[in-house]
Amino acid sequence: MTIPPRPRACVTGWPVDHSRSPLIHGHWLGTYGIEGSYERVATPPGEFKRFAASIGIGGLRGANVTIPHKVTAFAECDRCTNVAQALGAVNTIWREGGILWGDNTDAEGFLGSLDEGAPGWRREVRSAVILGAGGASRAIVYALLSVGLDRITIVNRTIDRAEVVAEAFGPKLFVLSWAEAPDWLGNADILINTTSLGMSGQNQLGIEISRLKADAIVADVVYVPLETALIRDARRLGHRSVGGLGMLLHQAAPGFERWFGIRPSVTSELRGLVEADILGLGAKIS
Ligand code: ATR
Repeated sequence: MTIPPRPRACVTGWPVDHSRSPLIHGHWLGTYGIEGSYERVATPPGEFKRFAASIGIGGLRGANVTIPHKVTAFAECDRCTNVAQALGAVNTIWREGGILWGDNTDAEGFLGSLDEGAPGWRREVRSAVILGAGGASRAIVYALLSVGLDRITIVNRTIDRAEVVAEAFGPKLFVLSWAEAPDWLGNADILINTTSLGMSGQNQLGIEISRLKADAIVADVVYVPLETALIRDARRLGHRSVGGLGMLLHQAAPGFERWFGIRPSVTSELRGLVEADILGLGAKIS
């Protein structure tokens, strides 16, 4: 009788040294007593295909995919979930019956983080303003449309990129310039920053939020620092606020379940572990 190999998963990217995914998945492996492992695998640009061929071999159940391979991974997968197809990018892969599957869990991660940080928001939020038009913005547009929002306004430095997102996602999407945004904020039930502004080492976001409604929610995808200036200002003005760490933690759960068979919980213990790592070691990528 042959002993099946221990289940393994990994994160791949270039560079991948700073990924916090091993900390998150390692914590869950320990919590649920699973005899498995989660590693880092550095894959240089141009070598993703070779990496993908290793999925499903020797106990390697699947992987998280990070910069710069998310779009390449989408192209390399045999099948993708609906959300990955809509976003044109993949962050979670696995093999099923020889078929390489790809998913994108960022949208689900954002919804999980809002459910945790602003309970009841699904009943209240009808209109959103999203700052930024990159991959994170697209995932959040998808997420908000999936829960039935009426109106999503994209604000971006490069207005053409915002127009592309609006075209891709249909009639509930609108575009505003950065200069027009502060006046429009009074119509928003939620403001979400998806740009890299406010991240340690980057410029500040510098958006005037005083016109937001008193009960509007403010969310940021940036989690280094743990509290961005946007989140701090929102809190000072009495808004409910949701920092970026929750999205990082919640986007990890579906992959873990897929590879190791248990839906893991995002607990305060896990949050504390990752917060300590951020406070101790500075800026990293997911
Ligand atoms: P991600 O996939 O993480 O969303 P991205 O695709 O590189 O990353 O998108 C980064 C977003 O941050 C974009 O909306 C970008 O604006 P542009 O489309 O105009 O480049 C925004 N961004 C980054 N640096 C910025 C800056 N200094 N000022 C304004 N917006 C900035």
